[in-house]
Amino acid sequence: MAEIVDLGEYAEGGREGFYADPYPVYEKLRARGPVHQVRTPGPGPAEELWLIVGHEAARAAFTDPRLVKSPPWSLDDDLIGLHLLFADPPEHGRLRSLVTREFTPGRVAALAPRIQKITDELLDDMVPRGSADLIASLAFPLPFVVICELLGVPDIDRDRFRRMSTQVVAPTSDEEAYAAHAEIAGFLDELIEDKRSTAPADDLLSALIRTTSEDGDRLSRDELRGMAFLLLVAGHETTVNLIGNGVRALLDHPDQLAALRADMTLLDGAVEEMLRYDGPVETATHRFAAEPVEIDGTVIPAGAPVLIAIGNADRDPDRFPEPDRFDIRREPRGHLAFGHGIHYCLGAPLARLEGRGALRSLLERCPELALDGEPESWLPGVLMRGVRSLRVRW
Ligand code: HEM
Repeated sequence: MAEIVDLGEYAEGGREGFYADPYPVYEKLRARGPVHQVRTPGPGPAEELWLIVGHEAARAAFTDPRLVKSPPWSLDDDLIGLHLLFADPPEHGRLRSLVTREFTPGRVAALAPRIQKITDELLDDMVPRGSADLIASLAFPLPFVVICELLGVPDIDRDRFRRMSTQVVAPTSDEEAYAAHAEIAGFLDELIEDKRSTAPADDLLSALIRTTSEDGDRLSRDELRGMAFLLLVAGHETTVNLIGNGVRALLDHPDQLAALRADMTLLDGAVEEMLRYDGPVETATHRFAAEPVEIDGTVIPAGAPVLIAIGNADRDPDRFPEPDRFDIRREPRGHLAFGHGIHYCLGAPLARLEGRGALRSLLERCPELALDGEPESWLPGVLMRGVRSLRVRW
């Protein structure tokens, strides 16, 4: 039996060191093989699971039908219920086609002027100050307001929703996690009920309530709650870290910053490199071995939870030469920051639109932008990669 690697202990600087820079730990594992049994470093109780590292193995795992998303426990009592990231075919395909009928490229493209306006207003407020926490001033509020407007969460409910969402994603205890799930489930039920009973609005949630496929299929009450939950939470807890991690990478590399300022046609490539180099999602959401799964001589037992280390797949030297170098001119195509296969991120076009717009406007409005000290607090856990605050000045 191979040893269980404690990710927190394996890192230089222990758990905090791991949160600040997990890449060397994953890389040491990758050098030993594609599959490892690991213990995750909190913040809640440590979890023992199987971790897949390396680009090829990660890509294969994303499409391996033996690694399923429906958990081995019943979701009947789950407060949020079934959603895309808990579903396998054919159920997954059914849910995904119902949501993609409404969450279309056209709907995303139509948001562009509104996204620009929100960005401008946030920067109008921030720029006169000369220095700020970029997360609080731009990286968080931009995707948060956009997803609330897209789904139709009323203004007055946003502070409450924001607090619940933070507690769901980064709870400080099991009790807090349960309470936050219960609260957010109630909140979403009220929101859906409200939309059902008032005049038809043109937000996405109202559209999802109304939508019916050709064969008459529609989302049930529980499915609507699950979908609203996933879109609202995935829609902002990730993009905040695209902007935060991306700006940090750029400001840490003055030559790259200067290259981008000199030629803004490099912007789209720069955002892809930000996603590759320090993407928001460090490991994909849980998968489970539906049967004993052998990968490269290691057997993952049936029922065991499995994580795919996206952060390592996108720093694999066999796929990206000199992977630890941040280079906005490289060819970053094929990165796995948005996942791969049937669960590929539904919000990728929206995230790219927000990330590119925020970066362009920020650089235009703050010609002397620079980091103002080192980040002090990193998001705990292995799911999200990012900082809680990022001091910048200009
Ligand atoms: C830069 C920002 C984002 C990143 C890095 C990101 C990353 C990901 C990843 C890695 C997955 C696959 C998870 C897995 O297979 O375990 C995923 C799925 C998903 N994402 Fe995103 N995401 C981002 C933004 C968004 C936004 C803005 C939305 C919604 C508006 C969104 C909605 C979703 C949904 C609904 C899924 C599940 C798709 C499915 O299971 O079929 N994401 N995302």
